[in-house]
Amino acid sequence: MANFPQLRLRRLRCTETLRVLVRENRVDVSDLVYPLFIVEGKGIKEEITSMPGIFRFSPDQLLPEIKDITELGIPAVLLFGIPESKDKSASGAYHPEGVVQQAIRIIKESAPELIVITDVCLCEYMSHGHCGVVIANKVDNDESLPLLAKTAVSHAEAGADIIAPSDMMDGRVKAIREALDEKGFQYIPILSYAAKYASAFYGPFREAAQSAPQFGDRCNYQMDPANVREASREVEQDIAEGADMIMIKPALAYLDVIRQVRDTFNYPLAAYNVSGEYSMIKAAVRQGWLDEKQTILEIMTAIKRAGADIIITYHAKEVARWLQNK
Ligand code: PBG
Repeated sequence: MANFPQLRLRRLRCTETLRVLVRENRVDVSDLVYPLFIVEGKGIKEEITSMPGIFRFSPDQLLPEIKDITELGIPAVLLFGIPESKDKSASGAYHPEGVVQQAIRIIKESAPELIVITDVCLCEYMSHGHCGVVIANKVDNDESLPLLAKTAVSHAEAGADIIAPSDMMDGRVKAIREALDEKGFQYIPILSYAAKYASAFYGPFREAAQSAPQFGDRCNYQMDPANVREASREVEQDIAEGADMIMIKPALAYLDVIRQVRDTFNYPLAAYNVSGEYSMIKAAVRQGWLDEKQTILEIMTAIKRAGADIIITYHAKEVARWLQNK
């Protein structure tokens, strides 16, 4: 085996073209999913304070944004809804004229090729802000399943291409698969938030979606950040229930989980680069403490290197722009 001075690892780093030739991982615009916050109402486009550059749009304000996204070549969006009113049965989540349902129709009409993924959860629609039905101050697993299934079906009826349940109830993938199949949506894939951790990095999202729990926390349904073996059990369960693709969330503090799941399961794997991860970078960039483009591209590359196929990220538009101009 060659060794120094015959072996010089720096040899392959001498020029940019050489470095590109031996590069192991690449980020491509086709890997990216851009999340969108849709707020009920008219004429609304408001920036989210803790997420500079990210807006809440009312359905009627969406089209210029959709045009931007498709022109940049971003293949998919992930929709979150913020309803006008919330209640104890999350009725806004599965109303045929709900805010997400309206948005899906508008998007599919103007950009039929753009993949519309919908987040299926109840927290944005529940007055208490929890992801399921609350009975005696507890989130009841089994009572939540029919509502999640109903929500998924109503998204599919409005034209959603992929259903992404993020509630972390046991059995939701099965309930959703059965409900979709029964209504003739056998070809609508499920992208399950399989290993979703009870993470502080969702803070800015909860401001954006006005979905912070009004009491307690999400620790009895979302995963403990200390666990990695359990992530594989979550993935196993969702695959057994019929998930077509799986997701790990958040991404950056969980690159080891992404790697483990990539090595164990042969399913398309998405990583969610969440709101807090976005806000931290933007805050540091505003202070002049980090180089924006280099830092963000490094993060995207790291998520790919860890093994993700798909990156859901609020940076998608800027990344797509940088990749175009490189
Ligand atoms: C809904 C949901 C959340 C996120 C995605 N879907 C919030 C939560 O679980 O509290 C977080 C996304 C982000 O932080 O960017 N349950």
